Amino acid sequence: MTEAPRSLITIDNLSNGEINHLFEIAGEMAADIPGQYGIARGKIMASLFFEPSTRTRLSFETAMLRLGGSVITASDVNATSMAKGESIADMARVVGSYADIIVIRHPWEGAAKIVADYSGKPVINAGDGGHEHPTQTLCDLFTLKQERHTIRGLRIALWGDLKYGRTIHSLAYALARFGATIHFRPAPGLEIPEYVLRKLTTEYKGELKRREGLQTVEEGTLPLDAIYVTPRSPHQLAMMPDVSLEVELEKSVDALYVTRMQRERMKANGSGSYPIVDKKMLKAKEFEKTLVMHPLPRVNELAQEMDGDRRAGYFKQAAWGVPVRMALLTYLLGIKQPKITEEADSLYQHRDYPVYTGDSVKCPNAMCVTSQESEKYLAHEFSIIKMEPLILRCVYCEHEVRPPFIASSEWHEGRTDTKKYHDSNSHWIKEIKPENLIIFGNESEAKTRGFKPSHYTGKVEG
Ligand code: CP
Repeated sequence: MTEAPRSLITIDNLSNGEINHLFEIAGEMAADIPGQYGIARGKIMASLFFEPSTRTRLSFETAMLRLGGSVITASDVNATSMAKGESIADMARVVGSYADIIVIRHPWEGAAKIVADYSGKPVINAGDGGHEHPTQTLCDLFTLKQERHTIRGLRIALWGDLKYGRTIHSLAYALARFGATIHFRPAPGLEIPEYVLRKLTTEYKGELKRREGLQTVEEGTLPLDAIYVTPRSPHQLAMMPDVSLEVELEKSVDALYVTRMQRERMKANGSGSYPIVDKKMLKAKEFEKTLVMHPLPRVNELAQEMDGDRRAGYFKQAAWGVPVRMALLTYLLGIKQPKITEEADSLYQHRDYPVYTGDSVKCPNAMCVTSQESEKYLAHEFSIIKMEPLILRCVYCEHEVRPPFIASSEWHEGRTDTKKYHDSNSHWIKEIKPENLIIFGNESEAKTRGFKPSHYTGKVEG
């Protein structure tokens, strides 16, 4: 594995200060696009899009051409040697030897991280399955700053498919970091995933409350249809999953971020009802001055009649993609020097979790890159984000897993009589240091590895 240079795989790879600095560069570039020609002369961008794209691919390619660089491209996995069984890691090593920077979109969650780990070049995640889409978030934040001047204290409703919408996940983290209040308004059955909510409440100091009686949500339960919040101060984040479109907010909504149903990520053909945003719906007082956003493409969820409405911001959002991506390319290529000044009031708290690697626990997400490539070279790897109860987070796709059985390497060294495994919910978890944790996916695996059940006494069972 080559040591990776600076990449953008998740929105957290950029600090608030860096994002603000990028926006200064993007603003300068937007004011004089022809004047940027030649800045990236001699540089080559590999544009690998293994899922359909109009905006992201074409704005990245336009950005590189506007900077005077060149583009090599692959847009069909069947036209690459991955169709012959080549791994993403091998493909990354090879493309890394051709290009100076790689932009990749792939249906497998965590695929962009693999490319960053193996290519030796800066990598930009242009969307990895339902996981993240950080450059769309840069366009979203830039649009908000252009239209509302600040993000802190804004009330932003995220609308539609919050489960599979990768733009939603990256944007929710960024909004939380910049101090916006988030209202989740999912279509039925498409609520924000639990792992995203957990990150928002642990790494971003978000506060999540039940709708009824404002009780704090119990750890590990997160009943999505019963969460409500009233922010107490601009620094207190608010997240409100709300399946009812009839609910009136007490105050106005600064921006409504609409998303389409991500049918391509669903096993069945999507759930029944899906909210449609139109002028009638936006007649409510709370939406009087709302900026209507959408990452696009739109299907039916946002009425065409909105296009001429003064609140519509979605085509501007797409147009900002070029200068924002121009700024990002120059930044990651080292052409523009970063001004790494973390805002003192950033609400993101990076955590160095202990890591667990082993075959006994596998990522449950079928679209995770480890589910697809672990047979070849890739180990399942997890951050241990909590011991009581035991919760692991896949380092590639961030889905969570709660392993059922545990032991400690400290207990039984050289003593076979004490080599026992326990239920992960038992009090034994308190006795284990993360660095000594042994995990079993099931009891037969523990027994195969020579461990005995918790209740084993050593007497012959009969
Ligand atoms: N917003 C976005 O990612 O659009 P494309 O799928 O067209 O790139």
